[in-house]
Amino acid sequence: MAKVKICETVLRDAHQSLIATRMTTEDMLPILEQMDKVGYYSLEAWGGATFDSCLRFLNEDPWDRLRKIRATVKNTKLQMLFRGQNILGYRHYADDVVEYFVQKSVANGIDIIRIFDALNDKRNLETAIKATIKEGGHVQAAISYTISPASVKAHTNEGFANYAKQLEEMGANSICIKDMAGLLTPYNAYELVTMIKKKVKIPVELHTHSTTGLGSMTLLKAIEAGVDIVDTAISPMALGTSQPPTEALVATLQGSQFDTGLDLKELDKVAKHFMPLREKYMESGLLDPKVLKVDVNGLMYQVPGGMLSNLVSQLKQAGKSDKLDEVLAEVPRVRADAGYPPLVTPSSQIVGTQAVFNVLMGRYENCTKEFKGIVRGEYGKTPVPIDPEFTKKIIGDEKPITYRPADKLKPELDELREKVKPWAIQEEDVLSYALFDQVAVKFFEQRKNKMYNLDGANADFEKKIHTV
Ligand code: CO
Repeated sequence: MAKVKICETVLRDAHQSLIATRMTTEDMLPILEQMDKVGYYSLEAWGGATFDSCLRFLNEDPWDRLRKIRATVKNTKLQMLFRGQNILGYRHYADDVVEYFVQKSVANGIDIIRIFDALNDKRNLETAIKATIKEGGHVQAAISYTISPASVKAHTNEGFANYAKQLEEMGANSICIKDMAGLLTPYNAYELVTMIKKKVKIPVELHTHSTTGLGSMTLLKAIEAGVDIVDTAISPMALGTSQPPTEALVATLQGSQFDTGLDLKELDKVAKHFMPLREKYMESGLLDPKVLKVDVNGLMYQVPGGMLSNLVSQLKQAGKSDKLDEVLAEVPRVRADAGYPPLVTPSSQIVGTQAVFNVLMGRYENCTKEFKGIVRGEYGKTPVPIDPEFTKKIIGDEKPITYRPADKLKPELDELREKVKPWAIQEEDVLSYALFDQVAVKFFEQRKNKMYNLDGANADFEKKIHTV
């Protein structure tokens, strides 16, 4: 058995899961040099919700963050999470935008692109996989792991192993089992990894969450079954809805045939950087103790960590925190109606928001545009066909689509370039604009004001001048 490799998630998924992706670049930079020395296989550092959060909440350029991380992390691979045809956004983009985004991600420092589709519709991965191969990046194709009632036969280990084989044939350099909600139980992980390893020759990585309290055990059984790489988070940002703690797994495997070769003392230096940050997030309320508890309900509701923390804050803002249990009970019902999509961005947001609407306004009295989209087939093929009667109830007489959703999308880049012209100062700005239009514009405006020193107390914003 080869040594088990570690992907450290603290710069992406750990804070996405625990503190709604609010870790700033400034909070990361001082420890990067040490992290580069540890000997991790990779650092998951970008993608997912980090891009959105940089622009929307942190007033940061996500591209600049990536370049800064890359400038310091010279030896360790950097990896990102990429939502197939959705890129890092919430709708399907035309192929030219997907290709350009991949090109710029690799050019700015990404080594490994973990590409997944929320519905496991491989047609939605084609463009991103081809583009990553073209740019010389490592394609890690991910299986969005989920469970559904056995009677539905939508999600079996055999089915997932066959999907892994198809992904290998499409050009993947490695496979990721992406268990976003911590639903993979230890013995099932053993069976799933064994089956996938039999089918594919490329390395297999396991990504899970501690949400349901199973995380570390699941990793261990997967390791015994021969998984090559596992995702963990440094202890101050581990557990709860985040990943299992890195140090505990390293200690568990020490001296065994699976020894990671990582040094606990070096890891401790990393932990010492993040511990005061954890305290800071706790004090500010950003880290809500609710996301740290063992949530066995997750095994029933299949709610991933990021989604749970979003639901908690969505309901808190609406003054309806007491409705959380009702919303959690509504989620599986909405999911069944929508053809059992795995709950991962964007389907998690779509199902989650619809569940909130159903509870607050009456079941399907109001449907979001995105929920109608999923029913219409705009996101791809659902694991289980949606009941035609339900489809009719939601979208009326419109005909659902059956082709690859992006096939009908015209190239978008030229038009986007025109639109972003007033603000663009770098090539990548068109991509920020493509994904988050008005949110990106607000960021561009703030960036411009800062550039001209118009963000201080002595500035007249209306006239764009200094008053004194
Ligand atoms: Co995750």
